[in-house]
Amino acid sequence: MTNELTGRVAIVTGGASGIGRTTVDAFVAEGARVVIADINGELGATVAAEYGPEVAFQRTDVSDAAQVAELVAVTVARFGGLDIMLNNAGIPTTMRAGLLDEPLDDFHRLMAVDLLGVMLGTQHAARYMAGHGGGSIINTTSIGGIRAGRGEPVYRAAKAGVIHFTKCAAIDLAEYGIRVNSIAPGAIPTPILASTLGHLDDIESATLRLREVMRSIRPLPREGSPSDIAAATVFYAGERSAYITGTVLPVDGGIVAGHAGNAFAEIEAEQAEPLSA
Ligand code: NAI
Repeated sequence: MTNELTGRVAIVTGGASGIGRTTVDAFVAEGARVVIADINGELGATVAAEYGPEVAFQRTDVSDAAQVAELVAVTVARFGGLDIMLNNAGIPTTMRAGLLDEPLDDFHRLMAVDLLGVMLGTQHAARYMAGHGGGSIINTTSIGGIRAGRGEPVYRAAKAGVIHFTKCAAIDLAEYGIRVNSIAPGAIPTPILASTLGHLDDIESATLRLREVMRSIRPLPREGSPSDIAAATVFYAGERSAYITGTVLPVDGGIVAGHAGNAFAEIEAEQAEPLSA
């Protein structure tokens, strides 16, 4: 740790679980004071209680503009400012096999949390930061927002929206010294994975199978973890990235770079095998 966030104040939405929870840890370890904002009041309060006075909790639904405005106000009142806004809260969609059977019934809630929530967090943080020397806003998208694919059309569309919005906001807010970037996690084992498979009978084996599939398409042979995302977030939050805005960084073991399968090697291996009589 290098104390690169000493004196900074951060908000982490969705900070009660998974990637957000680990990022709160990383921010505190780097010297920041943090407000955890999460819709899960019980978990959020429990997590915040594990720290000292450097961490507070504010129950917030990120899709509600009044609650997001209140979150920023409470943070400034408690810690005297706001330098870093991590718009990480998100909900998954149910994974279904194809568009023809897709009910699109979670459209409004998904867009409200995964896209509008990011927009509100960016806007309300920026309204404060613009008059107080700038800051760094980091929006969580997904590899599903970069790569088109089968299944999860609403989730992918919402996350693609996060990337485009991030670029627009970066251009708009640059004159105030506010940088806006996004991070695209891929295949990080957190509770969200099982939630996408909640409609199946055996969620546990479906989750294991899903992780197997991810392993087979990921170029890097190692598993990702919430700490990998937190490390990228600390970089965007601090001064090392002072000349970087409007970007999207996949943290995904190379999945969006391309499919790990090597069809040519497989064909070569087949040809090398002796022909059966
Ligand atoms: P998680 O389910 O562990 O954490 C999500 C957190 O967001 C939870 O604490 C939840 O209570 C909170 N939340 C949900 N709705 C909210 C709302 N309306 N207002 C405030 N808080 C709310 O999942 P994980 O994996 O840590 O997800 C974090 C972000 O990373 C999400 O935006 C997700 O879409 C994104 N992501 C995760 C990937 C992964 O492989 N785990 C892959 C791609 C993107």
